[in-house]
Amino acid sequence: MKLYFAPMEGITTYIYRNLHHKHYGGIEKYYAPFVSPGPDQGLSMKEAKDVLPEKNQGIPMIPQIMTNRSVDFIKACQVMQKFGYKEMNYNLGCPSGTVVSKKKGSGFLAHTEELNRFLEEVFNDPIVVNKEVEISVKTRAGTHSHEEWPRLMEIYNQYPMKELIIHPRIRQDFYKNTPSWECFAHAVEISKIPLVFNGDIFRVPEFLAFVEAFPQIDTIMLGRGIIRNPELAEQIQKLYDPQSGELSETAKANAVPDQFDRATFRAFHDDLIEAYTEYMYGEKPVLYKMKELWFYMMSMFPENEKLYKKIMKTNRLDEYRGYMDELL
Ligand SMILES: Cc1cc2nc3c(=O)[nH]c(=O)nc-3n(C[C@H](O)[C@H](O)[C@H](O)COP(=O)(O)O)c2cc1C
Repeated sequence: MKLYFAPMEGITTYIYRNLHHKHYGGIEKYYAPFVSPGPDQGLSMKEAKDVLPEKNQGIPMIPQIMTNRSVDFIKACQVMQKFGYKEMNYNLGCPSGTVVSKKKGSGFLAHTEELNRFLEEVFNDPIVVNKEVEISVKTRAGTHSHEEWPRLMEIYNQYPMKELIIHPRIRQDFYKNTPSWECFAHAVEISKIPLVFNGDIFRVPEFLAFVEAFPQIDTIMLGRGIIRNPELAEQIQKLYDPQSGELSETAKANAVPDQFDRATFRAFHDDLIEAYTEYMYGEKPVLYKMKELWFYMMSMFPENEKLYKKIMKTNRLDEYRGYMDELL
């Protein structure tokens, strides 16, 4: 199974990606959170920093671009090309209000004619036609309703995308409700593009349920599931028999959800603290970053609710470290 690490703005920073790659395996590609090029300024310094090749050495990383102007998209592709990247991902999923109101991310999905024109211009640009760069798309199933999905699939099917990554929620869902397997099944039925599924695969049992329903899919993108349990991709890969490449019945039967190696987790966690302390000024921003992670990681420690509250409250790094000693 090919597993991709989903882009998560503010969370999967280059620091997080590097350290995850150092401590854990199982991931084929790491997707960087979106850069949003403007007509004049192009990429901001902050955005460019996250994707600089020297910050991502040795990591199979795909940059992601979000815009609704093909000229800006192509310009950003050219910058990425100079950085050495060959594959770019296009964001049609971001549900944030400020993004959607500008007809970008999942807000662009409601404007099918403009979206179609955008894709036509991008896929007819010489750098794409000549295969200097390859484009994959990450999409939701619609802006307002799942009924938008068949038309969106019709549009996508016209273009030679490298992959179509589907997070089958609509924008209105944000991260609530459940991803629509019906929409994904429709895509499986008609797609000419290689498909990647993304959404709510948090643990091994959910993974197994998905592969049972969609045995023809060989690529899955995981986001919050890996933030929650950084070992998840490795655990999924261990379900496969290395010889046959098939899911091993014994491994399936023995799989314990939420199992993880505490020593590796501690080493990963301590490296994160150290790297963020070096990168950021003051204790508060470092703690803020760690608390964002604990929002997802804490459910791996269900018996420690009280400690979680203390972790979320503290403004002091020494106090935080004490809680970690207690927890880990
Ligand atoms: C805090 C946060 C930030 C995100 N940032 C991005 C982003 O920059 N680009 C993107 O395509 N998706 C982004 N996503 C969506 C994830 O990539 C992914 O599609 C979503 O979390 C569903 O997958 P999951 O259920 O495996 O987490 C973000 C999600 C969250 C929760």
